[in-house]
Amino acid sequence: MNQKEVIVTGGMGYIGSHTTVALQNAGYSVFILDNLSNSDIGVLDGIYRITGVRPGFKKLDCTDISGMRRVFEKHYNAVGVIHFAAHKAVGESVSNPLMYYRNNLNGLINVLDMMGTFDIPNLVFSSSATVYGQPDSLPVTEDTPLKPATSAYGQTKVMGENIIADAVRANPGIRATLLRYFNPIGAHPSGQIGERPNGVPNNLMPYICQVAAGQREYLNIFGNDYDTPDGYCVRDYLDINDLADAHVAAMRHLQSGGSGVNVYNLGTGRGQSVMQLVDAFQRATGVNIPYKITSRRAGDVSSIYANADRAARELNWRAVVPLHETLASAWRWQKKLAKSK
Ligand code: NAD
Ligand code: UD1
Repeated sequence: MNQKEVIVTGGMGYIGSHTTVALQNAGYSVFILDNLSNSDIGVLDGIYRITGVRPGFKKLDCTDISGMRRVFEKHYNAVGVIHFAAHKAVGESVSNPLMYYRNNLNGLINVLDMMGTFDIPNLVFSSSATVYGQPDSLPVTEDTPLKPATSAYGQTKVMGENIIADAVRANPGIRATLLRYFNPIGAHPSGQIGERPNGVPNNLMPYICQVAAGQREYLNIFGNDYDTPDGYCVRDYLDINDLADAHVAAMRHLQSGGSGVNVYNLGTGRGQSVMQLVDAFQRATGVNIPYKITSRRAGDVSSIYANADRAARELNWRAVVPLHETLASAWRWQKKLAKSK
C-alpha cells in the first residue's frame, strides 16, 4: 500500500484529470473512482502519456455505498480524498433537481462516511464561486456573505459545504478544505487532456472553441447591458493547470496538520468581460470568432471575481499561467478533439 495515495472521485473529468496529473507529478499515487457519466476511459491514456504513470481506476458510482466500502477497505491507507464527482450543468439542475441532490449529496455523504469508517483524515472538496451569488462588493473574499443559491446545482455546493462542516465537527479525525473555484478554462499544454463537453456547451470557453473550429456558426453573447465597464458580464477565468496545482497545495497543507475546515477562493483576482475574453482568444490564436448579442441568460450574475490572497498566504498558491497561454492550450485541445471525431 502506497503511503502517499490519494483517492480522487470524479478523477476522469475535466478538473479531476488535470489534478491527477499534478498529484502524480508531485509524487502522489492516485486512485480514481468515476462512474464515467461525464467522461471517457481514454482519459487514462492521456494521463499516462503526460506523466508516464497510469493511475489506479475503478468504475464506480459514489452513491453506491457497498461499492464504496469495498474500495475504501482496500485503500484504507490513503492520506486523503479529493471529491470532484458531481453533476454540474446548472440548467439541467433546475429541470431535474432531485437528480442533482441525489447524486451530489449522496456521493459526498458516502465519501465522508467511508473516511470516518476507515480513518482517512484529509478531504478536499470542489465548491464553487456560485455560493456567493451576486455579491454586494467585489472582489469576494472567503468572508463575503453567501447568497441563496439560484439553482439546485448551486444548492448542492452550499449544502455540501454545510454537510462537511457538520461531519468534521462531529469527527475531529477528519479535516477538510473547501475550494471555491472561479471559472477554470484551458487544457493541459501537451494537448493530451482537456474539457469534453457533452452536446451543446453551456460554458463560454468550450463554446468559443467550437465556433473557432467551425462546429458552430457564431457565439451567442448573453447580454451587453450589464452594469459593468463595457456592458458585458465579468468573470475570473483561471487556468486549469493552476487550479490543479491548488489541489496539491491544499492536500499538502492538510497533511501538515491542523483541524476543522479551511475555505479558499481560487481565481486570478482579475475580472475579464465576455468581450475581453473573445478578443484575447482571437489575439492568442489568430482565429476570428463571429458573435451575436442575445438576451441575458437567466441566473447569470453581472460580475464576480476573487480575492485569492488567503490561498497565496496559507497555501503558497497563486494563478500564474498567462491568459494567452491558457487560450492557446484550449484551442490546441479543441483541434485535437475535432481530429479524433
Ligand atoms: P466533469 O463533469 O468534467 O467531472 C466530474 C466527473 O465526475 C466526471 O468524470 C463524471 O463522470 C464523474 N461523476 C459524476 N457523478 C459521479 C458519481 N456519482 N460517481 C462517480 N463519478 C461521478 O466536471 P468538472 O468540471 O471536472 O468538475 C469537477 C467538480 O468541480 C464538480 O464537483 C463541479 O461541480 C465542480 N466545479 C466545476 C467548475 C467548472 O467550471 N468546471 C466550477 C466550480 C465547481
Ligand atoms: C457557470 C455556472 C456556475 C458553474 C460554472 C461551471 C451559471 C449561472 N453558473 O458559471 O454555477 O459553477 O458554470 O460549470 O450557469 N456566456 C455567453 N455565451 C455562452 C456561454 C456563456 O455569453 O454561450 C457568458 C455568460 O453569460 C457568463 C460568461 O459567459 O457571463 C461565463 O459563463 P459560463 O462559462 O457558463 O460560466 P458561469 O456562468 O460563470
